[in-house]
Amino acid sequence: MQFRKISFPNVVPPTEFPDDVKLSLPNNSNLPTDQQHYLLFIPWEESYLIGIPRQYVDFFKRVLPHLHTRTTDVHTAVCLGYLDELLSQFDQPINERVVALALILHDSGWSKLSEKEIAMSLGVSGLKLTEGAKNPKEKHALESAKITTKMLNDYDFIPPLNEKEKELIIQAVLYHDKPEEVAGAEIEMPIEIQLLVDLDHLWSFTHQNFWQDTLRKGVQPKEYVQNLQRDIDDYFVTDQGKELALKLLNERLDEVEVIEK
Ligand SMILES: [Fe+2]
Ligand SMILES: [Fe+2]
Repeated sequence: MQFRKISFPNVVPPTEFPDDVKLSLPNNSNLPTDQQHYLLFIPWEESYLIGIPRQYVDFFKRVLPHLHTRTTDVHTAVCLGYLDELLSQFDQPINERVVALALILHDSGWSKLSEKEIAMSLGVSGLKLTEGAKNPKEKHALESAKITTKMLNDYDFIPPLNEKEKELIIQAVLYHDKPEEVAGAEIEMPIEIQLLVDLDHLWSFTHQNFWQDTLRKGVQPKEYVQNLQRDIDDYFVTDQGKELALKLLNERLDEVEVIEK
């Protein structure tokens, strides 16, 4: 992998940055310049479709217009690429289609949030939530659930989804960002919900998002990789999810070591 020097206004960039992580900024942002790095995104490319299991590509394309905010398109496609690998680690029955559809839809709600809310969701300090405004993290899950309900009813699945499956997908979308609630539930939550949480959270450990977030969140790679290492236990619900995250973490540790030399 090649690293290059990078500069970016208002954040201290890593000394070197991987050549294959291309970043863009929205053209007409209304955010002040010192906050625009929160809006950095990896531009969508058709080649990301290759990693998606074939049977879900058509539905993914249908949802894609709702995924072009906050690198959600690339995020969703990359995480779908881990579906088979993670599910193959379980020997209990799992409704794979429910997990895949929930993953495709879980972040569609970001498309309904403002730039300011997107920026806040990435840790802007000094932007207070207006009174009564929902935390953007909470809000994006609620908006995703609305889009999910509509898309599940509009699309002709073969074989059709039953009502129980639709309900489970919506529940998974609502809980996808609440690992503590899912892991600590008194009555164990369905495995499909647990797997959505874990597949979603693998994103932080991938090459693309790790490096994107060093700039987007303005954190040095060495510090960020340590933060991820520290948080792994609370961030994943299943042991198999943790295991896969650990494998990705080791790849990131190797990359950080290269630039720290
Ligand atoms: Fe999310
Ligand atoms: Fe997500």
